[in-house]
Amino acid sequence: MKKWPLECGFFVAPRSLDRGAALTAINHIWLLGRKELASGSSRGTSCRTRDDGDRGRRVNHQLHLFQEEDEPDLLAELRTFRDFGESTLVETVGGLPYFINEFWTARQRQAHRLHEVSYRACFKPQLPAFFIERLTAPGDVVYDPFMGRGTTPIEAALRDRIPYGNDTNPLSRALTEPRINPPTLAQVKARLGEIPWGTFDHYDHAELLTFYHPTTLAHIEGLRAWLMEREKAGLLDQTDRWVRMVALNRLTGHSAGFFSVYTLPPNQAVTVERQRLINEKRKQTPPPRDVAAIIAKKSASLLSDGPALAPASLFLTAQSDATSEIPEAAVALTVTSPPFLDIVNYESDNWLRCWFMGIDPTSVKIAMHRKVEAWQAFIASTLHELARITRPGGHIAFEVGEVRNGKVRLEENVIAAAEGLPLTPLGVMINQQEFTKTSNCWGVSNNEVGTNSNRIVLLKRDQ
Ligand SMILES: C[S@@+](CC[C@H](N)C(=O)[O-])C[C@H]1O[C@@H](n2cnc3c(N)ncnc32)[C@H](O)[C@@H]1O
Repeated sequence: MKKWPLECGFFVAPRSLDRGAALTAINHIWLLGRKELASGSSRGTSCRTRDDGDRGRRVNHQLHLFQEEDEPDLLAELRTFRDFGESTLVETVGGLPYFINEFWTARQRQAHRLHEVSYRACFKPQLPAFFIERLTAPGDVVYDPFMGRGTTPIEAALRDRIPYGNDTNPLSRALTEPRINPPTLAQVKARLGEIPWGTFDHYDHAELLTFYHPTTLAHIEGLRAWLMEREKAGLLDQTDRWVRMVALNRLTGHSAGFFSVYTLPPNQAVTVERQRLINEKRKQTPPPRDVAAIIAKKSASLLSDGPALAPASLFLTAQSDATSEIPEAAVALTVTSPPFLDIVNYESDNWLRCWFMGIDPTSVKIAMHRKVEAWQAFIASTLHELARITRPGGHIAFEVGEVRNGKVRLEENVIAAAEGLPLTPLGVMINQQEFTKTSNCWGVSNNEVGTNSNRIVLLKRDQ
């Protein structure tokens, strides 16, 4: 790189650029800078400004010009990002840059419909998409050790990356795997036609009549037993897995598109007792529902944007820090969000889905840490494992959301947990859906109550 001083800072350019070309570029930047002391870009080059000091007031503008192949640097892009109208606010905390902006948004084009499977505390597909697009190439392995409904692996497959995923809850694989290389709608409909619904005429779980009409419950129990038998006999194929995945998603909900009478969404199943109270309050009794028709309709919707295809994949049901099946240095990028402190009770939320799958929810070892120190130790051991499986130069985007009303800043614990590991924290990104000029990196104080913000620690695996 060569450096030329500039009135307002300095100019950095690749060695290949001669003085004449450099002066043209400086002139170009100067014009851009005059128009707006923020950022701009032109073909093959990008221009960034750096803020030091006072938030919201631009001081000490240093303009850098890079050829993009010289610095494919996500941080440079974060500084100049203004896709949704606002410039990025950059603050330095503990020596690390915090980038605050609306980096992805509900206003973006709707995500692929294959994602439309509910799961408690899932992130928006736009979040993994942001990093997959910028930090990986087709064919790279993209991983999530806490994959939940599989947002990261599915987004990876949709972008021609190789999806890897893990979650301690077996439900997670049941929700994710059928959506990678899924069956066609015709295959799903044909399978639904082969299921012997007419023989499903009794039920054993009368307590579930608080949710279901007797005929519906007989069909649900019949389907459950039919799928379990096929699994036991080694006959369960991708179409059966798809049917099971959709059924898991239609078990309970608030509309006629679900098997149940009005209740909470399937990712937050209430207890039988609580449902009895809901029924009393709403003066409702469960109406009959056509289980096969509901599965067909939801399948058509999920498949309407096309399939997610992958020539290879790897899915595990393991603890996040014990994934020996994943080879060393196999992963280019991890995009993940761990269980937060004590806010989500996956076990009680998922009891009905676990019942349908034949999983004992108490056997699922879900991390629940009330003390921040214990949580940090859990993250440290997960990062230790991620350092093993991430290739040199690979990245980890670790999302911690906002907990306890912004009073606990878990990103600091993630950074501390990485200490001593061959992982370098690059910075923290804060995606604020309601980004305003008064936003800051400390928390939700400037946001409306209930507004979500994602806090993401970016780490790079050392060479
Ligand atoms: C915040 S959710 C992840 C949601 C995911 N990003 C999505 O979009 O669906 C955290 C997940 O961590 C899983 N989990 C909890 N403890 C775990 C552990 N020790 N090892 C692996 N997974 C764990 C939970 O089952 C849950 O699915």
